[in-house]
Amino acid sequence: MKIFYKILEIKEFLSTQKKDNLKIGFVPTMGALHKGHTSLIEKAKQENDLCVCSIFVNPIQFNNYEDLKKYPRNLEKDISELTSVNCDILFTPSEKEMYPEPSNVIYDLDGLDKNMEGAYRPGHFNGVAIVVKKLIDIIEPNKIYFGEKDYQQLTILKNLVKKLKISTTIVPCVTVRENDGLAMSSRNKLLTPEERKVAPLIYQTLTKAKNIYSKYDVNDLKAWVVAEINKCPLMKTEYFEVVDKDTLEPVSAFDKPERCIGCVAVYLGKVRLIDNIKFL
Ligand code: PAJ
Repeated sequence: MKIFYKILEIKEFLSTQKKDNLKIGFVPTMGALHKGHTSLIEKAKQENDLCVCSIFVNPIQFNNYEDLKKYPRNLEKDISELTSVNCDILFTPSEKEMYPEPSNVIYDLDGLDKNMEGAYRPGHFNGVAIVVKKLIDIIEPNKIYFGEKDYQQLTILKNLVKKLKISTTIVPCVTVRENDGLAMSSRNKLLTPEERKVAPLIYQTLTKAKNIYSKYDVNDLKAWVVAEINKCPLMKTEYFEVVDKDTLEPVSAFDKPERCIGCVAVYLGKVRLIDNIKFL
């Protein structure tokens, strides 16, 4: 695997590859790689000639300094994970390389950032949009891969790519889970053994909600999910919202269940986890 730290160097390398008409698949990450990430890389490998992964813990998408500080980092282990899935290229720039000057761009995300993560993490999605736009400008991928685990992020980036007429295809990828259902996340590494033990309750509750939704109205189901998760003394639900899969507007009825997605954020101790479920 080739590793690049500098924008000009990776651009130069990729431009020679593109002259040969090679198709580039790109997987942006913040490292602490797990099987969720590697599933994206495997898909990118299958669908393209070259797979580029980036690892960059993007400071401007963290609205909380503590969260940034404790975000897990282990480049050596990540490099061996990437090598084991035959990733072709790793781009891992420094903060100075990505932001020689502070970025003050503000993207209009068309209101897709107003609820859920956007409401509880002010500035988060603007920070994501800035870094992803910069990375796309550097890599110029044919396809770019994002996980459905971060459903709001995926929806916002789909909209941004369309709106800015960026010529790349976004490929959504299913959420990879541990055997007990917990969605894989770099933040799972921060859970204590006790917290890790109860963590599957989040997805178990979402699955139950999917099985019973037709008997409830939306508000009652929302209250039920929150109460069910909060029964666990280690957990505190920040939100559970049922939204339209494209507009991310809260829905008031389950008349089109195929359009509904339930999204949750839960504090497990100090660790904040998110997950979601499609109702149909
Ligand atoms: P990160 O959390 O490292 O995730 C990188 C990519 O992996 C995202 O597209 C995310 O949705 C996907 N992913 C994470 N866990 C997954 C799982 N269990 N199953 C499937 N896909 C999963 O998301 C980010 O980084 C950043 O915001 C980024 C887009 C890189 C911009 O900084």
